Amino acid sequence: MRKSRWWTLSHFGYQGRERRREADTYANREPVLLEFLPMTFPVTRLRRLRRSEQFRSLVRETRLTPDGLVYPIFVCPGEGVRREISSMPGIANLSVDEAVKEAREVKALGLPGIILFGLPESKDEHATGAWVDDGIVQQATRAIKREVPGLLLMGDVCLCEYMSHGHCGVVKKVSSPVSAGSGTAAAAAAEYEIENDSTVEILARTAVSQARAGMDIIAPSDMMDGRVAAIRTALDKAGFINTPVLSYAAKMASGFYGPFREAADSTPQFGDRRSYQMDPANGREAMLEIQNDLAEGADMIMVKPALSNLDIIYAARQRFEVPLAAYHVSGEFSMIEAAARNGWIDRERVVLEVLTSIQRAGASIILTYFAKDAARWLG
Ligand code: PBG
Repeated sequence: MRKSRWWTLSHFGYQGRERRREADTYANREPVLLEFLPMTFPVTRLRRLRRSEQFRSLVRETRLTPDGLVYPIFVCPGEGVRREISSMPGIANLSVDEAVKEAREVKALGLPGIILFGLPESKDEHATGAWVDDGIVQQATRAIKREVPGLLLMGDVCLCEYMSHGHCGVVKKVSSPVSAGSGTAAAAAAEYEIENDSTVEILARTAVSQARAGMDIIAPSDMMDGRVAAIRTALDKAGFINTPVLSYAAKMASGFYGPFREAADSTPQFGDRRSYQMDPANGREAMLEIQNDLAEGADMIMVKPALSNLDIIYAARQRFEVPLAAYHVSGEFSMIEAAARNGWIDRERVVLEVLTSIQRAGASIILTYFAKDAARWLG
């Protein structure tokens, strides 16, 4: 028996409890409240509870607080370096000493933690900078753990910042020969492939190296298949049985990462990320990605970008019982900044509205470049 749409239900109000007992999935869920509204206008006037801030505050359903907000930090080599990112006003590449200062400020603002990204001294085809003991993120982790105890450190685990070609995995050339007998001079069309399994090995090594440096949470963002299982196994083997994995489970191949790639110097030198990140058109596949990552041992899951995927955040919240994070990404940040700078929108108002919407959709953890501002505004 197929379920009625919610509006049918509320309009006719005759479907009983029997129907409501059916599979409580995202698509089938009913707004029970609507069915029980006793009266309509003029008895019911929803505006009664909106008359003053006191009323509104009393009945507010979603309360945004700083304790679910995580602030991203980009660490670079050097000392005393604070290099502004042109497409992300107010956000900078920070050397380790400056990152420590930033971390101190984040903690003082009452935020729970930061997520670290690294810009290595040099890049190569093995992403060496990602997994060496004295990698830039490892250095920052040690320093921040030492200087700012009590702040949760998340490590973004990916290879794009460390690979000379800017892809999130190992690049293998594949040549597809032109069909026999074509008689053309072109012998082969060179193509490339991002190799899954060899990438996963490097990711696992990176995760262990971060954990060894003191990372509290490992957050793989590469979108290779099987990476959560490999990371979990490697962490356990190295003795880090208590280090949780927050997987970027449903991560779309998104245009909204543009400014981040300036910040992390991780633009792919050829091609794009569509063969490993998800097609933004696919919501059901997002559920599969999440399901797989949980089966592989993820402790928490993430949806990304946030605002263009509120439906996926909502669906994931209904289906999975683990903590759910959303990444309000660089492009989402920059759009607001740009419009605010033009005087087109009220920055504080829009930021708080957007973050509240992401939380309302179901994310209890939000990674956002606005975390510090929001903490200040929320008091
Ligand atoms: C690394 C990574 C990216 C982001 C987080 N981790 C970039 C990408 O996948 O291209 C994007 C974050 C943002 O845009 O703020 N793979």
